[in-house]
Amino acid sequence: MTVAQIIAPPPARPVPDVPPVVEEALGEAERAELKARIKRLMQEQDAVLLAHYYTSGDLQDLAVETGGCVSDSLEMARFGHAARQQTLIVAGVKFMGETAKILNPEKRVLMPDLGAECSLDLSCPAEDFTAFCDAHPDRTVVVYANTSAAVKARADWVVTSSSAVKVVQHLKEQGKRIIWAPDRFLGDYVQRATGADMVIWQGACVVHEKFKADGIRELKAEHPEAAILVHPESPADVIAMADVVGSTTQLVHAVKTLPNPAFIVATDIGIFHRMHEVAPEKLLLEAPSGGKGATCVSCAHCPWMAMNGLRKLARVLETGANEIHVPEAVRVKAVRSISRLLDFAARAGITPGTSAD
Ligand code: 13P
Ligand code: SF4
Repeated sequence: MTVAQIIAPPPARPVPDVPPVVEEALGEAERAELKARIKRLMQEQDAVLLAHYYTSGDLQDLAVETGGCVSDSLEMARFGHAARQQTLIVAGVKFMGETAKILNPEKRVLMPDLGAECSLDLSCPAEDFTAFCDAHPDRTVVVYANTSAAVKARADWVVTSSSAVKVVQHLKEQGKRIIWAPDRFLGDYVQRATGADMVIWQGACVVHEKFKADGIRELKAEHPEAAILVHPESPADVIAMADVVGSTTQLVHAVKTLPNPAFIVATDIGIFHRMHEVAPEKLLLEAPSGGKGATCVSCAHCPWMAMNGLRKLARVLETGANEIHVPEAVRVKAVRSISRLLDFAARAGITPGTSAD
């Protein structure tokens, strides 16, 4: 069996300071007024809302109430591509807005906050990554969706957490050797699952890298009936404890369909909103991320996802601010690697509920 080479990338730009998590705080009256105003504006502007599970419950509810979607990154891309509306509002992080624009250049794509980054995207500057790829010209370049449009333009394939194992398995069967970026934990997981020959960029998600196997073990001892659900951006020792490893949609699906009365969930706590809705009778426990002696039980919430909110969404619809633009020269290259994923996912039958591997 081949073994992944861990090759240090060119000096990576240090990840900028992680902003504090600032949640929008709304009273009942303001929430109701904002939602009514946004619904009217969305109708006038022929807009649909695509929300990620890590955004606020208000945004997730609004997406459902207005016929949009709440989902993982693969489904957000597919839903936006199939939508008939002329304006796509992406409540998530910047790479999700860029993906929507790359697939739908004729549509207007808006985001509540253009500052909503992702530590994986930030860990992989396009110039450094291009030099890294140029140093390994014989390898197929596979990048996670959590990357900039420019990095996707340099890639042969884009994958998401729900499709990564299947795509890499497919490439391995064709005898391909792979460059993987940017998440080292997901890359390691994919390498272990497929045995593919991969050189792996050393980025990490600031939320998932914090989950602690020891803490999960202690929680499991208190709740032996609980199934452990893990997003594959987590460290290997956490993944090793999982009953289910999967994308956010796959983890929601597991809560709904597994017989367990309780779940220990190792992903962003924004997902609990949807999990409670699909399985109100089940006990959901946050996987500890602070470790021994830490003051928080779980700090597992993405500060960039938290930048989305109803107030900002209303302002964006009123002003037309925060439109996503992708230079056409970049877009035409990036659309090839994303379309390859969408075609593969359709052929491989990767639907929102199917397992990651
Ligand atoms: P999913 O595609 O599983 O929703 O993952 C996106 C993400 O950013 C997880 O941190
Ligand atoms: Fe990026 Fe992690 Fe936030 Fe997901 S949770 S958007 S991977 S920083």
